[in-house]
Amino acid sequence: MPTMKKKIIIAIDGYSSCGKSTFAKAVAAKLGYIFIDTGAMYRAVTLFAMRNGLTDDPEALAERLPEVRIDFRFDPETGHSDVYLNDENVETEIRRIDVSNRVSGVSSIPAVRAKLVAMQQEMGRRKGVVMDGRDIGTMVFPEAELKIFMTADPRVRAERRYKELIAKGEEVSLAEIERNIRERDRQDETRAVSPLRRAADAVVLDNSGMTVEEQMRWIDLRLAELE
Ligand code: DC
Repeated sequence: MPTMKKKIIIAIDGYSSCGKSTFAKAVAAKLGYIFIDTGAMYRAVTLFAMRNGLTDDPEALAERLPEVRIDFRFDPETGHSDVYLNDENVETEIRRIDVSNRVSGVSSIPAVRAKLVAMQQEMGRRKGVVMDGRDIGTMVFPEAELKIFMTADPRVRAERRYKELIAKGEEVSLAEIERNIRERDRQDETRAVSPLRRAADAVVLDNSGMTVEEQMRWIDLRLAELE
């Protein structure tokens, strides 16, 4: 296992539901780094907007952003960090499909991005972080030592997300999920502010047919190249 003498920033960007969080968490655990799921932060702001009837009013949402406090707290029972919105654990709620359907709209509001990007830069100030999102290698940490751009076949991604949601007892159809994924890809790629794109110096990881173990061997090779 690589030791990585110097702490670095690992930026992981890519399409939704292609296993970024699973991969990023495993990489962070391997290195003893902090894992930061920036999608969870955009989802938490979306939940705040939904609860306050602000999803169709970007200006009103921007004005109320000072009320939004987001942090991650480690849960020793699950071994994972959960996202908190104003001291409430919203980890489960933010994964619901109604939040997924609105998050692209909320994350395209410049004031929302400015607030979250500043928080993310602060979280990574001391390095030793694995951060996953859409604009980490391009906007949040353009100087990250290792940038990974993840992708996978949309059908494979829909099947993975479908299994997760069914296991949680949500009533969804595979077709609905695939539509949601393709629509989010389109919105993420075409939005005016910070569209999803691969940084010129990012390495591509297409994990369509890869197990997590194979992805771990892949990252070992990338880390070894940095030593
Ligand atoms: O990774 P995810 O599917 O949980 O992300 C939810 C949404 O948040 C996604 O549609 C795009 C947006 N997002 C973003 O705009 N910038 C990020 N750094 C992370 C997520």
